[in-house]
Amino acid sequence: MSEFKRYTVTSALPYANGPVHIGHLAGVYVPADIYARFLRLTHQDVVFIGGSDEHGVPITLKAKKEGVSPQDIVDRYHTIIKKSFKDFGISFDIYSRTSNKVHHDTASEFFTTLYEKGEFVEKTSLQFYDEAENQFLADRYIMGTCPKCGAEDAYGDQCEKCGSSLSAEELINPRSVISGNQPVLKETKHWFLPLDKYEDELKQWILEEHKEWKPNVYGQCKSWLDSGLFPRAVTRDLDWGVPVPLKEAKDKVLYVWFDAPIGYISATKELTPEWEKYWKDKDSKLVHFIGKDNIVFHCIIFPSMLKHEGSYILPDNVPSNEFLNLEGDKISTSRNWAVWLHEYLEDFPGKQDVLRYVLCANAPETKDNDFTWKDFQAKNNNELVAIMGNFVNRALVLTHKYFDGIVPTPQEDTDYEKEIRTEIQNIKTNLENNIKHYKFREALKNAMSITRLGNKYLADTEPWKLIKTDENRVKTILYYSIQLCALSAILAEPFLPYTSEKLIKILNIDKPDWDDANKFDIIESGHKINSAELLFERIEDEAIAAQVEKLNKTKEMNQAENNAVTPQKEIITYDDFVKQDIRIATILEAEKVAKADKLLKLVIDTGIDKRTIVSGIAKYFKPEDIIGKQVCVLVNLAPRTLRGIESQGMVLMAEDKDGSLKFISPESICANGSAIS
Ligand code: MF3
Ligand code: ZN
Repeated sequence: MSEFKRYTVTSALPYANGPVHIGHLAGVYVPADIYARFLRLTHQDVVFIGGSDEHGVPITLKAKKEGVSPQDIVDRYHTIIKKSFKDFGISFDIYSRTSNKVHHDTASEFFTTLYEKGEFVEKTSLQFYDEAENQFLADRYIMGTCPKCGAEDAYGDQCEKCGSSLSAEELINPRSVISGNQPVLKETKHWFLPLDKYEDELKQWILEEHKEWKPNVYGQCKSWLDSGLFPRAVTRDLDWGVPVPLKEAKDKVLYVWFDAPIGYISATKELTPEWEKYWKDKDSKLVHFIGKDNIVFHCIIFPSMLKHEGSYILPDNVPSNEFLNLEGDKISTSRNWAVWLHEYLEDFPGKQDVLRYVLCANAPETKDNDFTWKDFQAKNNNELVAIMGNFVNRALVLTHKYFDGIVPTPQEDTDYEKEIRTEIQNIKTNLENNIKHYKFREALKNAMSITRLGNKYLADTEPWKLIKTDENRVKTILYYSIQLCALSAILAEPFLPYTSEKLIKILNIDKPDWDDANKFDIIESGHKINSAELLFERIEDEAIAAQVEKLNKTKEMNQAENNAVTPQKEIITYDDFVKQDIRIATILEAEKVAKADKLLKLVIDTGIDKRTIVSGIAKYFKPEDIIGKQVCVLVNLAPRTLRGIESQGMVLMAEDKDGSLKFISPESICANGSAIS
């Protein structure tokens, strides 16, 4: 640590087009906050930067959908997001936003510097354009049929049905999201960052000089670098964003991924007039906390921008996490598959630290991880309550019971106390090393091991028995136990700031200094502690069941929506179509098939012949109700045997939204055997 004089800690700026959820906290903000709190506690000079990313196409689309301005959208979500972070104790020194003036000016100047240095490559290309609306269409503004799966509502960059990433030109029947019109291709000019030219220096900087980066980060960078980099456009034809500061580009803005990371710099500027030293002094350590979908931007693109601008330092590390899933499924804003932070606090008021704890203990540090409510309950009940809460409570209650809440004077140490001193020293050293190396899960385990040790100490020494025979020994034990409470309060603060504060209040002390958190005289003998209060409470099954139920409802709603329309199948030719021989026919007989609750055995007059067809409609129709009904039958389908009965054709059915089946019948009686074409 010592080579650096100060720390610039950034956390990815969330898009201001929705609230934040547990995936955001676990992936980025909890680890970043632990790191920043730790640095402050250890007397480092640190700025911890956050803010909302308020540009980009999805924001403009949402605005259009709701009939409001993009500024309205970002104002709304910036406020909600900022509050969630505050509520969870994410200790930003500043939480800014990219729609403000400082940021526009900073981003604009940054572009100009690169432009004047001749870094950009200019290129003209063809892009989709909406002639009715007189505007170019960003990928997200174009929809059409997915060439891979046939879904009709694929976007110009991705099909959400099948997940393929696409480019707008691949879409079948592209249409403008704004007007619905078919777009035309039109020439447009853009400025590109020539990443291909920077490839060698990036390889040197990352692959040779930063082998210590986390394997997931290093690996992703390596695979990008190995497959070759291409120039990246840093401008867009859009009217929401930072205007490109060039006369010839008046309807263009900076690409959101160009301006957003500069937001870290603008926010620092807003925070302190001394901002430059955090960004330009070689002895400042720049660390970016991000999620894995941001790796290329923070390890390759932004560093290239910083380096070629010329006056900035580069990140020392980019400790990116993988993703957190929820109950086995990918968290998704559009499917509402998430635990929203503001909703969590409504359901579990005051339990910020429980979520912080669970998310840190389960952080997707090396691979994707899963959040489940059962595990949340178990970690609360078996760890927070049973280990930390339990030890602190016993130490406090016993001190009150035997010594009226006055910290006793310790007598002679035994080997046990000597061992505890050494143990604590090790715990503290390990915890510090783990945080310094971004191993927050391990560090949290270290923090918990203080009270784990305390519990063992009480269980081994049994002061409640000794009190009758050896009060002096009990004095020592409780003296040590109270010191352990204080050590735990301070060493757990980066992880559990609310609990730490509460514990310090109960102990009735000023916040101890981190550097003293290996000593056993933090609280003096004779000091009076406040009455015991529980640090954590058990979470009962009902509360967990309610959360699971909420998720099940979401799942049902999503399924209903998915059932709404099945995507169109692959295109077929007319010849393919006429191969099917479909006729009007009448059901003559119907009966249930034994031991098959879905099947009815039908005898059908097809006009050609009378034949048997087995049909999977028993859940929706009673045999007696359908006799005499006219239906459509595919008569040239190869026979199949179902439950030992040969079925010679298929009765055509429509499947409704809820999965129920309906016959396709002629609108008035028709001769059996009439062909359908
Ligand atoms: N808004 C982006 C996201 O949520 C992150 C932006 S990080 C920054 O994926 F570098 F651009 F600030
Ligand atoms: Zn698709």
